[in-house]
Amino acid sequence: MYEDLKGKVVVITGAGTGLGKAMAERFGKEKAKVVLNYHSEKNDYKETIQTIEAAGGKAAALKGDVTKEEDIKKLLDFAVEKFGSIDIMINNAGMENEVPSEKLTLEDWNKVIDVNLTGVFLGSRDAIDYMLEHDIKGSIINMSSVHDRIPWPHFAHYAASKGGVKMLTETLALEYAPKGIRVNNISPGAIDTPINAEKFNDPKAKQEVIDLIPMGYIGRPEEIAACAVWLASTESSYVTGMTLYADGGMTKYPGFQAGKG
Ligand code: NAI
Repeated sequence: MYEDLKGKVVVITGAGTGLGKAMAERFGKEKAKVVLNYHSEKNDYKETIQTIEAAGGKAAALKGDVTKEEDIKKLLDFAVEKFGSIDIMINNAGMENEVPSEKLTLEDWNKVIDVNLTGVFLGSRDAIDYMLEHDIKGSIINMSSVHDRIPWPHFAHYAASKGGVKMLTETLALEYAPKGIRVNNISPGAIDTPINAEKFNDPKAKQEVIDLIPMGYIGRPEEIAACAVWLASTESSYVTGMTLYADGGMTKYPGFQAGKG
């Protein structure tokens, strides 16, 4: 537990499912005030609000699309109106779809870049603007992926978007370090969330993924949420511009395990 997170206002995009939901619940346990952005009425944000409140935190949710400037603005205004500040901004919303690159349409390319990269830019920009205006030494956390460094055929748009997120994070970290605003990146490996549901429902496809993970298991959303609370708390006060790979060793060239190569 991180005592300093108690009462802090944290905004999380894509918080209706998967990693966003797990992070929202973990910040609830830290007794933070959590603002959840969700994208679809099908998302179980209502249950998440109840879980957060039962844990002693506070929560409110607003529907919105991270690719739209006006929706991001509304989300941050909503956080300030509900809870009086923005201390932590987590740009988590993301999507992927598999297409061989020679068949990748401009529409598909733009959609993934818009959600995964432009959404992170808009959320970071407006949160930083608020923090500067109110002299808040806040924390921005962006959700990238191991594919900000591992090339991923059939997912060129996804890999390009996440590589962009990593460099955006590092640039913003450098730009706002003098103001005490920290900007960090979490790059998960394969985690058990809806984004992977179809793949992990197929035992063969799931095993093929596990074979790429030196630690030998698919990560749990709570293991990513644990990274987020650490990066948000003052326990990581000297850390900025970092990409935290939470991947069971996936980025460590598993093909070379056991002395191969
Ligand atoms: P998920 O599919 O459960 O979550 C993605 C969330 O983003 C959903 O709640 C969805 O509604 C939301 N979203 C999509 N488009 C949006 C938009 N335009 N505006 C607002 N929200 C939108 O999957 P997961 O795993 O929780 O993904 C969260 C983040 O983690 C994504 O950025 C993803 O790329 C990243 N990630 C996930 C990994 C995994 O293995 N689960 C691995 C590496 C990165």
